[in-house]
Amino acid sequence: MDNTDQYLLNFKGYNFDLPVVDVDFLENLEDFEIRDDDVFIVTYPKSGTIWAQQILSLIFFEGHRSRTEIVKTIRRVPFLEYNLNKMDFLARPSPRLFATHLPYYLVPKGLKSKKAKIIYIYRNPKDVLTSYFHFSNLIVAMQATDNMEVFLEKFLDGKVVGSLWFDHIRNWYKYRHDFNILFMMYEEMKLDLRSSVLKISHFLEKELSEEDVEAVVKQATFKNMKSDPNANYDDVLRNVIGTRRNDGHFLRKGVIGDWKNYLTVEQSERFDRIFQRKMKDFPLKFIWDVNKEQNQCK
Ligand code: PPS
Repeated sequence: MDNTDQYLLNFKGYNFDLPVVDVDFLENLEDFEIRDDDVFIVTYPKSGTIWAQQILSLIFFEGHRSRTEIVKTIRRVPFLEYNLNKMDFLARPSPRLFATHLPYYLVPKGLKSKKAKIIYIYRNPKDVLTSYFHFSNLIVAMQATDNMEVFLEKFLDGKVVGSLWFDHIRNWYKYRHDFNILFMMYEEMKLDLRSSVLKISHFLEKELSEEDVEAVVKQATFKNMKSDPNANYDDVLRNVIGTRRNDGHFLRKGVIGDWKNYLTVEQSERFDRIFQRKMKDFPLKFIWDVNKEQNQCK
């Protein structure tokens, strides 16, 4: 364990967010008991976790869909390794829903029984980088960087929470047969949310009525999540994690291709070269940009 950094805790070769992680929990993570009906969202940071948390909450809880129960999504789908609300996971009723940024090799070994389900959300890494740059400058639990060049360097070196993006996705994909896992692309969710909700609910064996599907889709749009205090995490940001400014949000822009506004041509080309080298032979496709019309915030 390397704990010389103020922000990163390197535990078994992977970087955790030191100010908010519980080290004792990590020590016992491998043996954390998994139930057959547990569902996990797995992501590299800034790939659409909060979005998937909202979709799962809407699919599983009638009271969330109808907005008759006022429960924050972070309580319905808590982070496994960042237990911000100090929930007693063992006392939670089934089915338990969790979110995690863990790499494949650190997850509880019970997940390999292949009964519990995993939804892995991935996003084009230039947008991940851009979202991450803003987020790490916003929250006090992460190191701020002056400019994109410095952050790009850190991202490409894996010196961020979540370590190296390339390793995270490559290895989860490589070892996918060890798990009961569905891969979902952020950009496809953005371009066709309805089909994505159907794909997820089908995987979860939660068949929804036409009306329910409409309700899930409606409340999982960027615009509606942004104005919904149970879904937007503004409260978690301000009161639990802590921010450096008052004008930042988890739901920042929610678009495809925002990297074009932040990376220089040189930085983008450098990224492309590294991407091509590291992701050679990787079968999943990525969407880096769409035309403006399609990319409007819904
Ligand atoms: S975290 O901190 O790792 O949990 O962040 P994460 O939730 O994975 O990623 C945050 C980004 O996801 C965007 N987001 C959405 N995009 C489109 N539609 C919806 N409904 C939605 N919900 C969240 C969020 O805006 C962050 O991306 P950026 O590019 O920063 O806007």
